[in-house]
Amino acid sequence: MALESTKIAEESLDPEDWESMRALGHRMVDDMLTYLQTVRERPLWQPMPEDVRSFLGEAAPQEGAPPEQVYEQFKQNILPYPMGNIHPRFWGWVMGTGTPFGMLAEMAAATMNPNMGGGDHAANEVEKQVLSWLKEMVGFPGDASGLLVSGGSMANLVGLTVARNTMAGYNIRKEGVAAAPKPMRIYASEETHSSVQKAAELLGLGSDGVHKIPVNKDYEIEVEALKAAIAADRAAGLQPFCVVGNAATVNTGAVDDLNALADICKSEKLWYHVDGAFGACVAIAPRSKSMVKGMERADSVAFDLHKWLYMPFEIGCTLVRSEEAHRRAFSLSPDYLVHMPRGIAAGTSWFSEYGVQLTRGFRALKAWMSFKEHGFAKYGRMIQQNIDQGKYLADLVEAAPELELSAPAPLNIVCFRYVDASKDDAALDEANREIMMRLQEEGIAAPSYTTLNGRFVLRAAITNQRSRREDFDLLVREVIRLGKEILS
Ligand SMILES: Cc1ncc(COP(=O)(O)O)c(C=O)c1O
Repeated sequence: MALESTKIAEESLDPEDWESMRALGHRMVDDMLTYLQTVRERPLWQPMPEDVRSFLGEAAPQEGAPPEQVYEQFKQNILPYPMGNIHPRFWGWVMGTGTPFGMLAEMAAATMNPNMGGGDHAANEVEKQVLSWLKEMVGFPGDASGLLVSGGSMANLVGLTVARNTMAGYNIRKEGVAAAPKPMRIYASEETHSSVQKAAELLGLGSDGVHKIPVNKDYEIEVEALKAAIAADRAAGLQPFCVVGNAATVNTGAVDDLNALADICKSEKLWYHVDGAFGACVAIAPRSKSMVKGMERADSVAFDLHKWLYMPFEIGCTLVRSEEAHRRAFSLSPDYLVHMPRGIAAGTSWFSEYGVQLTRGFRALKAWMSFKEHGFAKYGRMIQQNIDQGKYLADLVEAAPELELSAPAPLNIVCFRYVDASKDDAALDEANREIMMRLQEEGIAAPSYTTLNGRFVLRAAITNQRSRREDFDLLVREVIRLGKEILS
């Protein structure tokens, strides 16, 4: 029987009309670049109208629509209501802004759409090259290992998994945590990011697996308290295995004494992990790099490229000093993933053997293209600029009688609040909360918040490549205006 393949109506998702798709693509690139170019002229944030919310609640489309129409829906209903983090006056949480070339690199990466789990193709070499540049950035040796991941939380999880598996003293991958002869403990300051606790929970150590150490008045880990805690836990029959150092803390930008922690880990034979989500990048800031000295002695470092290297979400990185330990923690080669001597399945190191994911996206390309576009020296200057802006803002706060600096601001995070001697703390908490929400609702600026010494404070975390000093002048002016308005 002859095969009648020509009579079967087969479909594809490629456009029937490539020329109209090309025209739409050009228009989209144009629109997106204009959107970035004019971001300063728009309000930072605006609430979504009800009709937009209900549009975004519609049921799944069963039939398709022309791409032009879908794009119009995006432009009308989604694009005008951003989170705001690409705006020059966004300093909430610890975010990043992205860049125009980073955006275009994402398009190129999605076009190639390789699976970065492994194999012999150029994209894998790109990730290896980016990792070697990042090792140099943090002062790790060239033969260290690494992996690009979704962000700092995943980077901490990967690093702490290697720590747990390496330090357990038995085959924990096979036998699980239930077989641990003694409960295992991680040590980290009270100011450590919640992702470390989350990692401990996911690793079966429980939140009790993180022994939280008090901080000094500068929010840095109390080194003597750490030593005492390790000794007490050992005496109580627990198994200390890892210390997490902060470079820097999410609340105030405090940097732990990274060299002291390295010394303790060496003498106590503990794994040394540094959470450098944003602070690791200070290693290239010309006048501030000494602040993170000691980080290069870690066994593993976790950090983000989507925060203080301003790359589009998502991209983080874990570096691990011992390639062997890193591989041993994750490598698994079932029959269908065995490496071949030649062809696509060749290659010695497959990234899927160094982390959680098998299928992985080409996030390396935006890093590779961005580093080549600007060079590490410019990134260093940008980070330094943000640190200098942090100092500028802290000085403005200290110069204003209506404001109070709530914590030391050693780096790029400034915590402050509106004060009024005639009001009590509860009233000031309420007023500052209201100031923050109005700043956001009026689309002016976006600091976020935290609680320090039981008080609600405004918090500006400056990892923004678009901010200028005049933006901080405006922030201070507007906080004072709103504070007066609210408390009058
Ligand atoms: C110190 C610190 N560690 C970890 C994280 C988590 O990183 P991500 O949000 O990229 O998962 C953050 C996020 O702000 C952070 O500031």
